[in-house]
Amino acid sequence: MKPGVQLRCFGCGATPAAANPFVCPNRGQGDVDHVIRRHLVGEHPLDTMQTEPFLRYRRRLASWHLGRAAGGTDPVWVARVKALDHAIADLDGHGFRVAPVVELSELAELVEVGSIEAKVEIGNVSGSHKARHLFGLALHLHGKLTPSEAQPLAIASCGNAALAAAVVARAAGWPLKVFIPVDAPEPVVKRLHALYADVQVCERQPGVAGDPTYHAFQAAVQAGALPFCCQGPDNGMAIEGGMTLGYEWIEHWAKTGVVPDHLVIQVGGGALGSALAAAIAEAVADGAIPRAPTLHVVQTEGAGPMLRALDALASTGEAVAQAVTHRSDFMWPWETTPASIAHGILDDETYDWAALAEQVQATGGRGVRVSEAQLQEAHDYAHEVGIKSCVTGAAGLAGLMALVAQGHIGPTDRVAILFSGVDREEAHR
Ligand SMILES: Cc1ncc(COP(=O)(O)O)c(C=O)c1O
Ligand SMILES: [Zn+2]
Repeated sequence: MKPGVQLRCFGCGATPAAANPFVCPNRGQGDVDHVIRRHLVGEHPLDTMQTEPFLRYRRRLASWHLGRAAGGTDPVWVARVKALDHAIADLDGHGFRVAPVVELSELAELVEVGSIEAKVEIGNVSGSHKARHLFGLALHLHGKLTPSEAQPLAIASCGNAALAAAVVARAAGWPLKVFIPVDAPEPVVKRLHALYADVQVCERQPGVAGDPTYHAFQAAVQAGALPFCCQGPDNGMAIEGGMTLGYEWIEHWAKTGVVPDHLVIQVGGGALGSALAAAIAEAVADGAIPRAPTLHVVQTEGAGPMLRALDALASTGEAVAQAVTHRSDFMWPWETTPASIAHGILDDETYDWAALAEQVQATGGRGVRVSEAQLQEAHDYAHEVGIKSCVTGAAGLAGLMALVAQGHIGPTDRVAILFSGVDREEAHR
């Protein structure tokens, strides 16, 4: 079969318009979870000569396939990635790298599991995995839609996603509007200004559910801005940049011949978890790895819309493919203002809940709620083993500890976790 890619809405099955592969043409219609997903067709070999993730895995990116279908060539694509990576390095110290995987044997003993392998993403571009989503999007935009003052990029975020967007947009020379909450951390706001982002502060309105920055972002997109975000419903192509993280991990598992028993992932808006879930499902279907690890998702006591959705799925016994046709029975904004020390996973909604729920169900995983004390403890453990993760970035470890305490992960089990963000508070002290 000729290698290629197909784009389809998971909620309604529609194919997006060629000029706008980002959103479902039926978005907003019915109580349907419209998210464009991409499916690979045929073979998509790695480029083992490359160590930069977007080059190594480029033949799996829809942006690469769509670019070629539009008459672009591989050498031009490679040169574009290199140029953008260099521009990022000038702004942020270095371009994209494969995130290292480390064995944490002392921590495994302490937590009472067989082994813990941690993928450490905190040293990557802008200090978190978010830059991968946005670099993936930048590769889609190039050559098709050129952002301009009249049609800027837009994102809503209070931290890592905003910083990542600002670095990538600045490297590409594109204008960016960033919608932030009133309590966004000062160092983040400063850095956004330094990167020439157009920063707009949004207040919560009494009686209006949902994140005010997200509402403002959606209004900007309605007015013509391009969704440069980390949410699949607003831009389905945001997911695939994050899949490079999954591809790296899968390659590691294939090389070592050991697929972990469990993968425990922190979930906010759900794009990270969805990207990992999609990469793993694809690898199992392709035979790259023999089976998937059991996928568990972690949220806080302060906000758990994903956990609520998993509970609703379990109690109705419904398949996710069916549930996406009546979304509001599973996913709606958290009723109270979310609060936790894990700021990055406080999204009012898990926008990308469906792909994630599918893989949790398919692998027999669970949702786990962690306390503030567990989050703090996980953060401190990470620092003790020399990984300067933020609290959110260490929330997978907190989830692992909770799953062990509940008896869902046992003393001989092999577990994988991800440290997804650097501790900026520490860095700024
Ligand atoms: C460090 C870190 N880890 C994990 C997440 C969660 O990712 P997602 O919102 O895609 O679920 C975030 C989101 O802000 C984050 O900043
Ligand atoms: Zn749709």
